Amino acid sequence: VLTQIDHVGIAVEDLDTAVEHYRRTLGVEPTHRERIEPQGVEEVLLAVGSSFIQLLGALGPDTPVGRFLERRGPGVHHVGYRVDDVAATLDHLRGEGVELIDRTPRPGSRGTTIAFVHPNGMGGVLVELVQLPSARSE
Ligand code: CO
Repeated sequence: VLTQIDHVGIAVEDLDTAVEHYRRTLGVEPTHRERIEPQGVEEVLLAVGSSFIQLLGALGPDTPVGRFLERRGPGVHHVGYRVDDVAATLDHLRGEGVELIDRTPRPGSRGTTIAFVHPNGMGGVLVELVQLPSARSE
């Protein structure tokens, strides 16, 4: 069950510059910053209501966000949909024949559980399923 837009993930060349730009222009404040080494990314979350803008900086050129920046430049990278149960949602999508990137849920930032769905199955949009820690059903 989709409960909310969790975040919009935006790839940026320089995290600090982007955070300052968002503060000045849109008046949104950073609420969380985290390096996720296995994914080669550093993220800053800016709260908008109970959703987030997620700015993504690459930890190097040979990372998913680094390759995205090289290929397409800065811009929208993925959309995070909040769900009650990532595992159940993956099962449902698999049953619908939707191509998945993650076959099983894995840890995300903020203690969340996440999984990515391939853009091929979502009209060209990279989709991340996000389950909040409090809703974890393991
Ligand atoms: Co994300």
